[in-house]
Amino acid sequence: MDQRDDNETEQGYVKALALTELPDGELRSVRIGQSAVLLANVGGTIHAIGGICTHEQEDLADGEIEDGCVVCPMHFARFSLETGAVMDGPAPAPEPVYDVLVEDGAILVGRRRD
Ligand code: FES
Repeated sequence: MDQRDDNETEQGYVKALALTELPDGELRSVRIGQSAVLLANVGGTIHAIGGICTHEQEDLADGEIEDGCVVCPMHFARFSLETGAVMDGPAPAPEPVYDVLVEDGAILVGRRRD
């Protein structure tokens, strides 16, 4: 997992990765403050949800993207990358969703949506 500076913009966004570090179809885990955040590139759209499976704490960046979901590599829970909802499998709770934007070739992660 990459450790990133907590260099917040005025809007509360933190630079997480260069866009070139997350090609289409790939997943990366970053730490933003105290939170593990999963970044996913789905057809050029960047999503940010919680990075640790709510079932047994597996790193979701080791999973796969399928049909707009991340599939946990351990017991195959599926989380929507759009909403964080559990779509299938044993996970007992959804993942949090974070605001995300791309600016000047960088992926920035913002506040957790509640
Ligand atoms: S640890 Fe993710 S489904 Fe079990």
